[in-house]
Amino acid sequence: MSKKIRLGVFGCRRGISLANGALSNGMEIAFVCDRDEIRAKNASKKLGCPYVLEYEKLLEQDIDGVIVANYATEHAFAAKLALAAGKHVLSECMACFTLQEAVELVEAVEAAPNLVYFFAENYPFFVQNIEMKRLFESGSFGKFTYGEGEYVHPISRDEMGELGETVGHWRNWLPATYYCTHSIAPVMMITGTRPVAVNAIIVPHDFDDLSIGGSVRVNDGTSVILCKMDNGAAVKILPWSSVRDHGQRYRICCAKGSMEWNQGDGQIRISRWDHDFPGMEDKPKSKKYAAELPDDLKEALKHGHGGGDFFVNYWFKHAIVTGEKPLIDVYKGVDMSMIGIQGYRSALNNSNTFEIPDLRIKANRDKYRNDNWNPDPEKPCDNKPMPSVIGKIKPSQEALDYHAKKSAEYRQREIDAANA
Ligand SMILES: NC(=O)c1ccc[n+]([C@@H]2O[C@H](COP(=O)([O-])OP(=O)(O)OC[C@H]3O[C@@H](n4cnc5c(N)ncnc54)[C@H](O)[C@@H]3O)[C@@H](O)[C@H]2O)c1
Repeated sequence: MSKKIRLGVFGCRRGISLANGALSNGMEIAFVCDRDEIRAKNASKKLGCPYVLEYEKLLEQDIDGVIVANYATEHAFAAKLALAAGKHVLSECMACFTLQEAVELVEAVEAAPNLVYFFAENYPFFVQNIEMKRLFESGSFGKFTYGEGEYVHPISRDEMGELGETVGHWRNWLPATYYCTHSIAPVMMITGTRPVAVNAIIVPHDFDDLSIGGSVRVNDGTSVILCKMDNGAAVKILPWSSVRDHGQRYRICCAKGSMEWNQGDGQIRISRWDHDFPGMEDKPKSKKYAAELPDDLKEALKHGHGGGDFFVNYWFKHAIVTGEKPLIDVYKGVDMSMIGIQGYRSALNNSNTFEIPDLRIKANRDKYRNDNWNPDPEKPCDNKPMPSVIGKIKPSQEALDYHAKKSAEYRQREIDAANA
């Protein structure tokens, strides 16, 4: 392909970071789209391209693909429309919001064999996770037996004025298991395993925590999902969590050794057990070191999320140009996303086990084809769950007033930027 790949950006907040990753990979940003005109204008100034306000208009443009970065709970619908319009898709997290959407998305991608659907999960591309994948694939650590992944990101009431700008914004009601892909994706990509079943626990809404009980949030702050993987391994993850720390943590334990990194100094620690227990002579060999990218890829580190925002674009383009299977394809995308949905069902059902259907297998699809169970206050379904495990929560007047003040301040900053 000699001509530059022309992309449209749907959603002008997070979409701008992904667009910058696309530009660094030699793709062109031809249009941006956001129904919020101030935001669309700001993005068009930053990226030097025209804007449109409606998604349907974006899809009518002369573009090869779409960066789908609208609301987290509405990506499947946007991806399906893009594919139907003949556009490649780079979709933000989560891939699907219901099991029904998972089935529909998989089938929409299968119906468009000449188009690429790439799930833009960027956490597998932190340099440490790339290094742990290399170590695991060397084979010297042996069989994968246990893993951990966590994404800890408490959001203050002040920040929520921006990130959860309206009271009904998804960040204010999304149940604690749903934003899970940053936590599970690296483990899946390093080990090549997929989850087959989950059990989950949610730490209930904490009324004493100012960032939760004192805010407009009506969801819970933290959950733990235990995943049974297809090779028998167990994985414990913390989806987006409000525990007091910040950053991410991954651990891969195998038959002959383990490796991990965390919020501390970001170094990888490996511990090797290259011996059998009965004849054990040596102590385990441990090592701690900083992972590095090769010189020709260091450019990636200028981009957000440890280079992840560069690499999802790199591999998206690679799949378009070569016709090879996308590194994170739709099946992996829905596997990563469904554990949050099934995890919430588990948490609401005494932590019972819920399966993660393998939608690569057509026979597994009919059971979930009409399963639109979801916690979105605006989207009807049978047996509607509340966003919190403790039921309906009403924010206090003080929290509503504080949020209104903070989101107005954020809005003013956006207006000032548009007028500058
Ligand atoms: N992978 C990462 O590291 C990472 C980081 C931040 C956000 N995200 C993801 O990016 C997505 C966007 O998050 P965000 O932080 O930018 O906030 P957001 O969800 O508030 O932003 C979405 C934007 O899309 C626009 N939009 C939504 N529906 C639209 C429609 N029908 N037509 C036109 N415009 C529409 C909104 O006006 C808004 O500006 C989410 O899925 C989030 O999970 C991922």
